[in-house]
Amino acid sequence: GGVPLTGLTAYQSLFDAGRLKGGETIMILGASGGVGSLAIQLANWKGATVIGVAGSSNQDYMKDLGADYTIDYSKGDVGEAVDKIAPDGVDMIFHCSRGDSLAQSHDRLKEGGRLISITNSDPERRNDVQFQYVFVEPNAVQLAHLSELADSGTLKVPVSKTFKLDDAQQALQEIESLHTRGKTVITP
Ligand SMILES: NC(=O)c1ccc[n+]([C@@H]2O[C@H](COP(=O)([O-])OP(=O)(O)OC[C@H]3O[C@@H](n4cnc5c(N)ncnc54)[C@H](OP(=O)(O)O)[C@@H]3O)[C@@H](O)[C@H]2O)c1
Repeated sequence: GGVPLTGLTAYQSLFDAGRLKGGETIMILGASGGVGSLAIQLANWKGATVIGVAGSSNQDYMKDLGADYTIDYSKGDVGEAVDKIAPDGVDMIFHCSRGDSLAQSHDRLKEGGRLISITNSDPERRNDVQFQYVFVEPNAVQLAHLSELADSGTLKVPVSKTFKLDDAQQALQEIESLHTRGKTVITP
């Protein structure tokens, strides 16, 4: 139950829109959230270097999922932190969070790089990078691939909390905080 929405969103953002390749560097803003948690692992599986960005309590969590480097957005300017990790910049930014992190770091995207966003914000545009907003679509072939990756243990779906259907309103309230870790799942 935790795979389809987050998995397909990450998959289509990284591989269809972003055309992420092994050897490239991707920075994921909001990497400890539902989509970001799967994006770290999919980028890792592809052989990319992964920089995960989230708050203090999620630094070890992102490393455990396979992030090569992590940045704590609450500890200072995200762009300056990127300079220490990737002085030549990053090939792709996957934007899955609100807040200032994108504004602080979007000029660390290499010329010709890809900025892929799933939030309905309107990020500052640069003429020398490719920008695409992704809205997830059903795709049985990709879902089967995600299922194989999950069955083989390559892809973990960190379920942080489950709620009974009667408590769905409380689940939605927690999700609206924009600080939940991993996936929230409703059970019958
Ligand atoms: N377009 C689509 O098809 C699609 C599909 C699914 C979701 N979405 C949207 O995508 C967004 C992400 O969804 P989600 O379920 O993955 O989110 P989520 O579970 O709410 O996670 C958001 C993550 O962002 C981090 N974060 C908060 N402020 C940040 C900042 N200033 N800089 C960097 N990271 C920050 C949080 O980490 P901390 O807790 O450590 O602060 C949290 O891990 C939501 O807006 C959702 O509505 C769009």
